[in-house]
Amino acid sequence: MSMGTIHGVGLGPGAPDLLSVRADRLVRGARHVAYFRKAGRPGQARRIAEGMLRADAIELPMEYPVTTEIPVSDPRYNACLSAFYAECTDRLLTLAEAGEDVVVLCEGDPFFYGSFMHLHTRLSGKAPVAVVPGITGMAGAWNATGQPITWGDDVLTIAMATLPEDELARRIRDTDALVVMKIGRNLAKLRRAVTAAGREAEAWLVEHAAMPEQRVTPLAEATSVTPYFAILLIHGRGRRP
Ligand SMILES: C[S@@+](CC[C@H](N)C(=O)[O-])C[C@H]1O[C@@H](n2cnc3c(N)ncnc32)[C@H](O)[C@@H]1O
Repeated sequence: MSMGTIHGVGLGPGAPDLLSVRADRLVRGARHVAYFRKAGRPGQARRIAEGMLRADAIELPMEYPVTTEIPVSDPRYNACLSAFYAECTDRLLTLAEAGEDVVVLCEGDPFFYGSFMHLHTRLSGKAPVAVVPGITGMAGAWNATGQPITWGDDVLTIAMATLPEDELARRIRDTDALVVMKIGRNLAKLRRAVTAAGREAEAWLVEHAAMPEQRVTPLAEATSVTPYFAILLIHGRGRRP
């Protein structure tokens, strides 16, 4: 019997009509559908696929054992997540070895700061793995502002708000255009870094890009609490004819 394939399928930033034709075909045809979620939550990738799954689809939720309960710097964080990804890999591998294909639903693009890549590295060489690219959350975000993100030879920096404040300020000072993700509890620190770089008047916060609750706010007007799905943007102002 030939092995099944594990497909990491990018579903785009949130709107169900921003999937590729290939992603749409795979999701609608899948018998086994896996996805990550926080315990007690539906999971954003599963939400995007709502109404698309086969009536007989078998769902395989993979629930993170920790999200923000243990700091990322704590060695227990890595150990705990590593064991979790190993266990998820085993579940998918068992299905592939039984000849079953599995679709893993991924928000945005699977290879862009996504959890799927932790499965991909563990599955490589053990089972066939295929990846379907998706529109990233940041593309949804800059399109929501109605302005291009980069012109001419603008340099675009993508940073995580989890970086130290000095490092963020340095990166913001050195770039033309900017995307900052994973903001959450780091908004106050990020705001200080943007201000230290002298760019607070240019910064926008986009929450829930391409989702029904989408909101675009100048950073100056943003409140201290941001949802998980939030991106800070500074548009490039580069060379143009
Ligand atoms: C673990 S990363 C996943 C990125 C995803 N693979 C992608 O291609 O965009 C999660 C972060 O992406 C950003 N993000 C993803 N989709 C978003 C959206 N629709 N609106 C706002 N932020 C989004 C947020 O900053 C969030 O904290």
